[in-house]
Amino acid sequence: MALSACSAIDAHIYDRVAAAVRRGLAASPKSLPPWLFYDEAGSQLFDRITELPEYYLTRTERGIFLQSADAMVACAAAGGRLRIAELGAGSADKTRLLLAAAVRRQGAVVYEPLDVSESALEAARARIEHELPQVQVAPRVEDYTLRLDLDTLPAGERRLVLYIGSSIGNFEPAAALHLLQTVRAALRPGDALLLGVDLVKGEATLLAAYDDAAGVTAAFNRNLLVRLNRELGADFVPEAFAHCAVWNAAASRMEMHLESWAAQTVRLAALDLTVEFAPGERIHTENSYKYQPGQAETLLEQAGFRPDAPWTDAHGWFAVCLGRVE
Ligand code: AVI
Repeated sequence: MALSACSAIDAHIYDRVAAAVRRGLAASPKSLPPWLFYDEAGSQLFDRITELPEYYLTRTERGIFLQSADAMVACAAAGGRLRIAELGAGSADKTRLLLAAAVRRQGAVVYEPLDVSESALEAARARIEHELPQVQVAPRVEDYTLRLDLDTLPAGERRLVLYIGSSIGNFEPAAALHLLQTVRAALRPGDALLLGVDLVKGEATLLAAYDDAAGVTAAFNRNLLVRLNRELGADFVPEAFAHCAVWNAAASRMEMHLESWAAQTVRLAALDLTVEFAPGERIHTENSYKYQPGQAETLLEQAGFRPDAPWTDAHGWFAVCLGRVE
């Protein structure tokens, strides 16, 4: 989709926000979908999270790329020429390692970031073109969770789609499979998907990663209420909700909630909606699934890919898996 189509996308996003909030706050227990975190302030808070000492995910995956980006690119290219697409435009530093590996291998590369946010795409374009002039950035405004439209490639080129950073972990298992099937359907034989998943580990490590000492994750969680105040004319008092991070071992996921300190009534003017909270009542804001070793490969297989053996780190905390289209 051309970048000029973004006002239609903005209207689409507003409708999606309104519908999701109405549905989630009417549900019992109350919930809000995690994609609501990522307004401008939320994206900046997430960038800060990725630099926190407790948030091991980003630096662990980055370490895997530092070590193995050349091998990943060579495996995906399988003797051909690669074009690299990415679901989302936000994984700057790690993406750069893969693009640099592609440049080393083939001299230049086309990079196609896909995102609903035009500003995130423009920032990615400016950053990448400045740092790696051999990369031609071809951004696409696209909600890849709904559909995925990719240009047909010139003969001899293969596409490598990146879905890194454990983003797949924020989807429920059925939705994760559906998303990978959507990606698979948009690819051709010879193409591949590189998937980054966070693995199950000790509870203390997981809890610290989602409830850091500096309170950045708490601010990220509460920013969701700030967003609803601004976009839906709501009157949430964000400090009246506690940030809760919970390890749900049975479901193999970290959960984030916002817990009401007291009985309170919240009005969302744009939705003509009034919501009551009991003391201790929670809004479930995020699941972050942690995979068992081998589980990502099974998921890739179920979606129609042929998985290679994954790359991982010395602790076995994170895995990056290549799924090929045959
Ligand atoms: C974007 N996503 C993979 C992050 C995660 O770890 O699930 C979002 C996040 N939530 C709390 N901290 C970071």
